[in-house]
Amino acid sequence: MPDFKVKVPFFDAAQLYSANKAELDGIVLKVLSDGAYINGPEVGRFANQLADYLNVNHVIPCGNGTDALCLALMALGLNQGDEVIVPTFNFIAAAEAVAFLGLTPVFADVSPEDFNITAKNIEEKISNKTKAIIVVHLFGAAADMEPILTLANQHQIFVIEDVAQALGSEYNGEKLGTFGAIGCTSFFPTKNLACFGDGGATFTRDQFLANKLKMLANHGQQKKYDHQYVGVNSRLDTLQAAILSHQLAQLDVNIEKRIALAQRYNEGLKSLDIGISVKREYTKHSFNQYCIVLKSSRQRDQLKAYLADQDIATMIYYSQPNHLQQAFSSLGYKVGDFPVAEDLCGTVLALPIAHLSITQQDDVIAHINAFFANA
Ligand SMILES: Cc1ncc(COP(=O)(O)O)c(C=O)c1O
Repeated sequence: MPDFKVKVPFFDAAQLYSANKAELDGIVLKVLSDGAYINGPEVGRFANQLADYLNVNHVIPCGNGTDALCLALMALGLNQGDEVIVPTFNFIAAAEAVAFLGLTPVFADVSPEDFNITAKNIEEKISNKTKAIIVVHLFGAAADMEPILTLANQHQIFVIEDVAQALGSEYNGEKLGTFGAIGCTSFFPTKNLACFGDGGATFTRDQFLANKLKMLANHGQQKKYDHQYVGVNSRLDTLQAAILSHQLAQLDVNIEKRIALAQRYNEGLKSLDIGISVKREYTKHSFNQYCIVLKSSRQRDQLKAYLADQDIATMIYYSQPNHLQQAFSSLGYKVGDFPVAEDLCGTVLALPIAHLSITQQDDVIAHINAFFANA
């Protein structure tokens, strides 16, 4: 019999620290005593390490993942009213960045199998005002980039990739975030590569875009008080950069742990009539989230409540699609516009995966099976 008493948090941020306490103490104390809190040498060092990891020429750290998206859109020189296609089944950041800059977010539906935007979803939304697409690789799974890049090329549209949930994931053997003009990421504590606060980065192979991104994140200046663009102040703290260098060295090992846990979930839940993320042959999925899809929102909510009663935390990513958010009501979208995304919002459930022990996972699996056995 499984031990039905084990408490399973969805995410335990303090584990990021406790897993490597002694080393992290040394790293943090060194930055504190060196005193270079802004743009210390650790920032450039981390940027170079991440560039090597991703196999890109330029990584430009910034304050957070939302800033990274804003900076990418700013760097591409888009004009007010230009349309940017974004998946509606997503965290709000991409659409928010588009709207914030006076551009128009044009929402698109996603694939029910891997939750990602497809070339077909995008094609339906292309107009003569479309200037960019933000491809968000959701939950760690790669969107199918080849047809998306072909389509974007045909229509002369920029591709921005958001790998906030997919840093370290691969498409045909290459790291996500390196296929479009600019890749963007977040180092929020729940991400694959996490710092102890806010952090983000953009990356590109293009020298002109790299220079512009760097300037835009630093008040539009290349030299002190020589401002070529209207920029912003968006920096990665030295402290966070030093921590991220340490975490980057462990990224692949941590992703392998997530993959192994995802395989155990697949195995443990395989006899149930539920949907699981389809593994595409072209992707190395990093399982930032492991999501299941239930038959109805009633069943999803009942399972969530049942697991909560057993002290097992789960999350709903996302309870509402972007096109139905109040914030975008002026765009005139309505229920029924994007059936796949709307359906997923009612039926998807994320199970704990980060820092999960085998005992905890066995508990989660046993309880989900028990829920269905008693249904
Ligand atoms: C896909 C995606 N993009 C962007 C962001 C925004 O990142 P940040 O919280 O660092 O601004 C998030 C954060 O959760 C995200 O999940």
